[in-house]
Order: sequence, then C-alpha cells, then structure tokens
Amino acid sequence: MDITQFSVFENRCLVNGEWLSSEETLAVSNPLDQSVITTVPVLSEQIIEQAIVDADIAQKKWKNVAPNERSRLLRDWFDLLIKHQDELAAIMTVEQGKPLKEAKGEITYAASYIEWFSEEAKRGYGDIIPSAASSEILVFKEAIGVCAAITPWNFPAAMITRKVAPALAAGCSILVKPASETPLTALAIAKLAEQAGFPKGVFNVITGSSTKIGQIFTQSPLVKKLSFTGSTEIGAKLMAQSAPTVKKLSLELGGNAPVLVFNSANLEQAVQGVMDTKFRNAGQTCVCANRIYVQSEIYDVFIEKLKLEVEKMKMGNGLDADTDIGPLINRKAVQKVEEHIADALSKGALLVTGKTENTEGNWCVPTLVKDVTQQMLCAKEETFGPFAPIFKFETEEQVIEMSNDTEFGLASYLFTQDINQFIRVSRGLDYGMVGVNTGLISNAAAPFGGVKSSGIGREGSKYGMDEYLEMKYVCLGNIN
Ligand code: SIN
Repeated sequence: MDITQFSVFENRCLVNGEWLSSEETLAVSNPLDQSVITTVPVLSEQIIEQAIVDADIAQKKWKNVAPNERSRLLRDWFDLLIKHQDELAAIMTVEQGKPLKEAKGEITYAASYIEWFSEEAKRGYGDIIPSAASSEILVFKEAIGVCAAITPWNFPAAMITRKVAPALAAGCSILVKPASETPLTALAIAKLAEQAGFPKGVFNVITGSSTKIGQIFTQSPLVKKLSFTGSTEIGAKLMAQSAPTVKKLSLELGGNAPVLVFNSANLEQAVQGVMDTKFRNAGQTCVCANRIYVQSEIYDVFIEKLKLEVEKMKMGNGLDADTDIGPLINRKAVQKVEEHIADALSKGALLVTGKTENTEGNWCVPTLVKDVTQQMLCAKEETFGPFAPIFKFETEEQVIEMSNDTEFGLASYLFTQDINQFIRVSRGLDYGMVGVNTGLISNAAAPFGGVKSSGIGREGSKYGMDEYLEMKYVCLGNIN
C-alpha cells in the first residue's frame, strides 16, 4: 500500500500556517521490514524559536475567539478525522506496525478526545465564592498561553489529540513534537486541522531532534506549559529542564500494571480482560498488564485457558485483515522483551507457551511464563511487549502488597465477583486508575493519569481542561 498517495499524507511540518521542509531530514521507516517510507524535516533552532514567538502572537487572538466558535472548529476537525479514518489508520499501521483494526480503533479513540473537548470548550466555568468580608471573590479560568507537547510512538494519534484538543478548547496555542518513529500520523492530523480552519499558529507540528526540541521547548519562557507522554527517565529530565522557567507540567510516564485475578473471578471474563490489556498494541502501552497475579485455587485452570487464547493470536503484517499482533516498533524493543523472558526463566519461572530467543527483525512471539516472582526483572521494569508473566498469590493482603511494590502507579486491574473485595482492593491499590472486571479502561470522558513515578496531571474528562487553564482570583472590594 502506497500511503504517500493518500490525500491526507504529508511529510512537511506545519508552522504558523506554513508547510515547511528542510535540507536536513529524518527517515521514517516501516517496522515491518525497516524499509524507508519517506523523510520528514529536521527544523533548525531558529525556525523552532520563531514558531514559539508566532504561537504566542496567535494565542493572544485565539483566547479571545468565542468559546462556541472554538468548539465549532474542534467539531469540524473531529468530523474530518472520522471521514478520513481509513487513510489515517493505514498511515498509522505502516509507520507504527499495529494491526489495521487497532489503528482504526485508535483513530476513533483519538477523535473522541476532539469531540469531548469541543463540548468542554463551552464550559470553562469560573466561580463566585461567598466571602465574610465586604467583598466578593471571583474566580476566572483563563487560558495558560503557549503550550508544548511531546508525544510517543505507541499511540501516534490519540496521545496528540488528548493534549491538543483541550489546549485549543481552553484558548491556548500548541506546538507538538511527535515521536520520530511516527510523525506521519501527526502530520496527517495537522493537515485535517488546517482544513477545519484553525487560525495559523494555534496548532503547529515540529519534527527533528527530540533532545534539541525538548531543550528549546523547556528553556523558552514563552512556553507556559509542557505535556509529555513517555518514559519516567525522560519525563524527569524534562521536569528538571522546565524548572528555571517554572512551567506547568502534565507528565504521563511509565507503568508497571498489575492484574489481580481472585478465586471469585469469572474466569472467562478474566482471561478476556488479560488478553485485552496485555496484548493491545503488542503489549506496547503504558497501561498494559505487566504482572499477572493469580490466586492459588484457580492458578492452573486460569493458565490453561489463557494459554489457549494466546496461541490463537495471529502475528503478521498489520495491513492483513486477520492479523492480531504486528511487529514491535524496533529491534531494541524486542531485545528488552527477550531479556525479561530470559531473566525469568533463568531464575526458575516456567515457559507455558511462546518463543524465547532467536527472533528475527522486529518480531516477538506472544509468550506466557508461570511461577514468576517479585525478584525477577519483569516484576520491577515495564516490559512493553507481548510477554505475560504469571505470579501465584494466596491472600488479598499479600497481593495488594506485591502490586504496590513498585515505583510506578499508572493502571491496575482486578477481577472478582465479590463486591466488598472490589471496593477494598480498589482502595488498597496505589494507582491512578483501576479497571474492575475489564482490561480496557481508556475513555475520553475519564481522567487518565498516574501517581508516584507514573506522572503528574490527568488527561481527558472534565478535569483535562484544567491542565490548560490558570485560575485568576479577582477580589471585588467595597460592595456595600
Ligand atoms: C499510553 O499507553 O500511554 C496510553 C494508553 C491509552 O490511552 O489507552
């Protein structure tokens, strides 16, 4: 499939309403066979700095555009994403590797954030607070200013719209640096934003060196807010770099999601839930199950049922309709999964199904291993691939302790039919999100985010707009 012929295809950057190319470029390749699809610009420091200045000028006008007009433009952008979802999904599959059916799902998911925030644009309510003094306390909610976003390759569309849509709804302008592996989905989405009619400079997409762009964004006093999705290591670095200019930050960082399957669980539901959360995007999501804890009474039967489902998965080219699992993003990602499997097996875990070594290219066979312990690498680090390690536990207290024994706190899941247990365990888990009897928790209407080293802030939902707004307290004195 030649995605370069699509009407939404674009390989130049959108900066202040202009489509820019550059002499120096970056190759974008297909993870299926490493073939080069196209190149994108490496924009110079000077152009990026000017882009920030122009975004500041654009923002000063944009914040005064009536909320219902901002809402209408977002709605038009949403309609265009839906209209072009097949082309957008194919671009995503070719540059990222995920199966077409998942890519289509991601476009719908990405569009749902635009739809949600097109509605929230009209609801930037302030407050009037009763005061004991002879004054009135007013709270205005105001757009924070120029924002910057650095987004990952695992969700090339949704991680952009869930930052850009609330920013634009709030009256901010935004510059996005998409992942170097997947800039084409971002540029196609930007092309549709241009068609929707957003004024020049309010939405910009910049490609080039991640380190350099991160430095420019964080050092600029004009950039008032940075939103980042990616690793905890890079998130902490961006946080330190942002300190001198005291920026507002949203950080959606690493996870190490536990799944707790209790004796009381509906086993079919639990197996389906684990399949959904473990193997979505070939295990390359921050909310993917990383550790699967199964209570002793159902341990063997659960593993047998899960094994049957894992073995049904078809690995292949994401463009083929029957593919369930595509290639991983690159060879380094495969090596990390293989390292986790080898470590577990060397420390006494047992292989249930899968392939543990000598894979080729970016392929990684879905692998199930049992009798895993807290001492193994996969208990401590995020695997980010199709490896499902199963741990045995005896009691509720024990599994809560094991689940919380990590620096991360993004997503967690539990399966039980006992209502009291679901409440006790949900309260006991030190995580920003808990899925109960489901492996799919992502939703534009829900507050997505983590605690501990998994980040700061929430994306989506009614709370997502606040990340792009400042409160201004106005004291109205002498009102008697
Ligand atoms: C992520 O992996 O960072 C996001 C996953 C999601 O939105 O479901």
